[in-house]
Amino acid sequence: MAGGPSTPQLAAAVSDAGGLGFLAAGYKTAEQVASGIEAVRAATSSPYGVNLFLVSHFEPDLDAVHAYRRSLEPEAASLGAELGAPRWDDDEWQAKVELVLDTRPDVVSFTFGCPTPELLRRMAERGIHTTVTVTTVAEAREAAARGAASLAVQGPEAGGHRGTWDQAAEPDSIPLLDLLSAVHRAVDVPVVAGGGVATAADVAAVLEHGAVAAQVGTAYLLAEEAGTNPVHRAALADPAFRETAVTRAYTGRWARGLANRFMADHQDAPAGYPHVHHVTAPLRAAAVAAGDPQVAHLWSGTGHARARSVPAGEITRALVSR
Ligand SMILES: Cc1cc2nc3c(=O)[nH]c(=O)nc-3n(C[C@H](O)[C@H](O)[C@H](O)COP(=O)(O)O)c2cc1C
Repeated sequence: MAGGPSTPQLAAAVSDAGGLGFLAAGYKTAEQVASGIEAVRAATSSPYGVNLFLVSHFEPDLDAVHAYRRSLEPEAASLGAELGAPRWDDDEWQAKVELVLDTRPDVVSFTFGCPTPELLRRMAERGIHTTVTVTTVAEAREAAARGAASLAVQGPEAGGHRGTWDQAAEPDSIPLLDLLSAVHRAVDVPVVAGGGVATAADVAAVLEHGAVAAQVGTAYLLAEEAGTNPVHRAALADPAFRETAVTRAYTGRWARGLANRFMADHQDAPAGYPHVHHVTAPLRAAAVAAGDPQVAHLWSGTGHARARSVPAGEITRALVSR
């Protein structure tokens, strides 16, 4: 969970409890990821994973992005923030690839796209298990054909960004268990499933539908070891935030979060990741600094009411206690 919630301590605590903790590489410099890997290694000798963003080049409708930026100016002014400039970047892809080839985490997962067969093979040769996030049967077939060792099927219930490879595509809304069954039938590689999985019964359901493991994000957002910011934590604990919704308003890419005023006001936001992400980043930081949950992004899946403020090990054990 890039953007703060995932910390080395969270990953280590999950792995120590018998899960597979992940370090989020997204939005960080390769140097910061290297320090994070060292911190995980210092905290645990259990297996762990690193998650990379694979951001394909995308040409948004720049007029639409600039128009959207202008529409946000009053919003930014009221928080004393200056909006960022829209631009593309690749999240330091090459440097992070070199880093994981060098440090060899047990698992490397990818979201927003699929590496080439050559890169997947290079990772396998280094003993790294690769997992590619997929949101459709077509993506699943392609990732398996390219040589992904396993797939992470992400359903529409999931918190945070949809991992859809084509960011301009409208995301599918086939529920996780149906998507999982379809993917399981279509491919020959192990499948992990996530999206709204927050209880032991949810974990059992994905295992019964063919998954070898469950992927869980939102249920850990309030974990003691998570780096979730105070505004996000307070909103998750606030019964007034009852609904989640999907939005492009924060980053130009569809993502699910607790429904707030900003999402309702900017339903017409254009596609354009990471351009829009760079535009709104200072506004979001100012909203967090001001303690404003109606402007800050509050990524959460549909299982958010189940998140608990306890140690991550306890959350992990509860997810498999039946
Ligand atoms: C706050 C937050 C941040 C996330 N960041 C990432 C990320 O950096 N990389 C990624 O592959 N998935 C990310 N996800 C999605 C998760 O990998 C996963 O699909 C999702 O959390 C599963 O659904 P759940 O949130 O309902 O448990 C994020 C999810 C949340 C809630």
